[in-house]
Formats: sequence, structure tokens, C-alpha cells
Amino acid sequence: MRMRSKTAIITGAATGLKGEIRGIGGATAWAFVREGATVYLADINDELGERTAAQIRETGGSAHYVHLDVTDEALWQNTIDSIVKAEGALDVLVNNAGTGRDYDGDYTDPDGPQNAEEALKVEFTTVEGLDRQLGVHVRGAMLGMKYAIPEMRKRGGGSIINVSSIHGIVGVDTITSYSTAKAGMRHMSKTVAIQYASENIRVNSVHPGYTKTPAALPLFTDPELYADRTSQIPMGRYAESEEIANSILFLASDESSYITGAELVIDGGHNAQ
Ligand SMILES: NC(=O)c1ccc[n+]([C@@H]2O[C@H](COP(=O)([O-])OP(=O)(O)OC[C@H]3O[C@@H](n4cnc5c(N)ncnc54)[C@H](O)[C@@H]3O)[C@@H](O)[C@H]2O)c1
Repeated sequence: MRMRSKTAIITGAATGLKGEIRGIGGATAWAFVREGATVYLADINDELGERTAAQIRETGGSAHYVHLDVTDEALWQNTIDSIVKAEGALDVLVNNAGTGRDYDGDYTDPDGPQNAEEALKVEFTTVEGLDRQLGVHVRGAMLGMKYAIPEMRKRGGGSIINVSSIHGIVGVDTITSYSTAKAGMRHMSKTVAIQYASENIRVNSVHPGYTKTPAALPLFTDPELYADRTSQIPMGRYAESEEIANSILFLASDESSYITGAELVIDGGHNAQ
């Protein structure tokens, strides 16, 4: 019961059905509930989010689904207000919502990217794609912290975990706008951590490597791609979403009471090379 009497909100947490590959947010919701927390699963995929929350409740856990597009400031404000009205407090915020590729074309435009590799590059990055990535990852995390922190202050402290990526730390040949947004989350975490450390509000970032989630499906269902990627990982495999969730759980719980402004890399040794 490491999360007893704590109330948490996790964004991008709809993908958490039992018996299916879970997203990091969905797996984190299960881990928090297992340890006694009341959890609000926030997402834009309402149907899936409602089903996941219902499954958690069936096991006796305290879980609720809320519709929240993390780029929408008014929705953030309303969501945090209603959680505090219902639970009396907010202790933990996990900014996890994420979006992957930002090119949806079919590579037939002679002036556009000719393949998936090229589509990652800055020459083919669109302003809309960049804004979308910065919107979900940077603006979303900023808004979450902006509205959660005043409530955490009333409680005498709190813990915020921003889900970045190994691609937010080192330069890699990946989607330009994604890695840029993830690096933004990493730096914002440290800045906000310093601002609120004296109030016992802790802010840390986690940096998963390749993880088996619904969003990353093509990266592990294609055997050739999987073999290529795992050959670069010292542990020789991708992470399960539950392995990332356990690290987030540690940072959310009081066991990490002296950790703030830190970054936890969870990547099977990938970035250690
Ligand atoms: N899977 C990986 O390999 C990997 C690696 C490093 C970091 N990450 C990060 O982990 C986080 C979770 O990724 P995942 O792979 O578990 O994804 P996932 O399969 O759970 O999908 C992401 C979820 O975010 C939700 N979402 C998207 N836009 C949203 C918005 N505007 N508002 C609210 N919710 C929104 C989606 O509906 C979906 O439920 C992301 O931030 C991702 O960038 C993933």
C-alpha cells in the first residue's frame, strides 16, 4: 500500500485493458491502484478509457475516467477542480499522454518524403506536425503542472512525473518534432522542480526506451525491425509497459521523498553506451 490515501491523475491512460498490451499510462493506473491510490485516468479515447476504468473498479480498485485533451487549458482547469471537489485533494500528476509520428502521407508526392525514414527529417517536418508534438508533450505537461501545483501546495506536497523518452536526452535519427518535444519536457521538469522544491512538490522525468505499447505496435510486431532495434539494446529486448509503470510508481510514492529534478532512464542499458 505504497500509495495509500493518495489521489492521482494520469494522462494518456486509456490503453489499460486486462489481457491486452497496455500503454504506459494504463499500466501505471493499475500499479497505482494496486498500491491503494484513487486514480483518474484521463484521455481523449473515451470508449477505451471508460472500459479500462470499469475493469479496474471490477477488481475493487478506485478508478475513474475523465475526458481530457491535454492541450486544452479550460479542460485542465475543470478536471483538476472536479477531482479536488470529489476527493478533497490531489497528490500525484503523471503527464504521460503522447503522440508518435506526425507524417500521414503515402510517399507519392515527388516533393515530399519518399519513405518513412525521410519523413522523420527536418526537411519534411511541417509546422503543423511540430505544433502537434509540442502541444501534446510540452503544452500538455505545462498545463497539468500549472493547475495541479496549487492543489498540491494545499496538501503540503506532491509528486509530478513527466514521461519523456530516451529520445529527449540524446540525439537520434527519429522524428524531429517528437525528440524536440520530449527534450522540452525533460528541461521543463528540472526548471519546475527547482521552483517548488521548498514546498515539497517534487518533479521528475522518466525516459523510457522502446516499450511494448499499443502506440509502438509496428516497432515490435515487425520481426526485422524488432531484431534491428533490439540489437542496439544491451538487454536485448524492449521494455514491458509494467516495467516503466513500476518506476513511475516509485517516483510517485514517498519512497522517493528526496528525489526531485532527476531523470530516470529505463531502457535496458540503451543510452549507457
Ligand atoms: N512506447 C514507447 O516505446 C515509448 C518510449 C518512450 C516514451 N514513450 C512515451 O510514453 C508515453 C505513453 O506512450 P505509450 O507508448 O504508452 O502510448 P499509448 O499506446 O498508451 O498511447 C498514448 C495515449 O495517449 C493518448 N493521447 C494522445 N493525445 C492525447 C491528448 N491530446 N490528450 C489526452 N490523451 C492523449 C492516446 O489516446 C493514447 O491513449 C508517451 O508520452 C510516449 O511518447 C513511449
